Amino acid sequence: MIKIAPSVLGADFSKLGEEIQSVDNAGADWYHLDIMDGHFVPNISFGPAVVKTVDKLSKKYLDVHLMLSEPEKYFEAFVKAGADAVTFHIEVHRNPTKHLQNLKNMGVHAGLSLNPDAKAEMVLPYLKDCNLLLVMSVFPGFGGQSFIESAMDTVAEAREYIDKHKLDCLISVDGGVGPDNAQRVADAGADVLVMGSAFFKAADRTKLVEQVHNIKRK
Ligand code: DX5
Ligand code: ZN
Repeated sequence: MIKIAPSVLGADFSKLGEEIQSVDNAGADWYHLDIMDGHFVPNISFGPAVVKTVDKLSKKYLDVHLMLSEPEKYFEAFVKAGADAVTFHIEVHRNPTKHLQNLKNMGVHAGLSLNPDAKAEMVLPYLKDCNLLLVMSVFPGFGGQSFIESAMDTVAEAREYIDKHKLDCLISVDGGVGPDNAQRVADAGADVLVMGSAFFKAADRTKLVEQVHNIKRK
């Protein structure tokens, strides 16, 4: 089953508790939490306190996406806040093995992410050490951007590599994903669809979750 991970960045923060309740009620699988430092990306979002709040309000899996120049400095804080998976970018650590291992030693799933202009070859050798590959289909920093089609080539290459080597690594796609391209993204090889604006702006959130769960990969 294809999973859906609503990105909390797209929620209405004036009623965060209700928004979290609605994600749970809609039957979504994971929460995606975007952490931005104003260095690696040109925006600042939120920190461990918000992750801890979501963790208090929901039992679901928390997928924390670190868009930080020095992610390892904050691993412990996000693990303590309740993260189930922590992902950082290959752009900041070209040799990510020891950091992936550190995360696993802290008892969480470890993920790598790559920007839309990065080649799949950059991450392929490290997928054996990853639980999650987060392929960006927008340049990270803001919700509500348009989907970059060429990211699907990266997804397809990673899918082929993971299947060929029988690795235990999920592929998640993040940025500009919604009901109109969900099937195509899954067909390219995604296991998890991150949706910010598409989820929180959906007229019927439960229906959107069902649509994703009913996707059959071609
Ligand atoms: C972008 C973030 C995304 C974002 C997705 O920097 O990493 O997770 O919240 O939002 P949408 O789905 O609106 O593109
Ligand atoms: Zn993200």
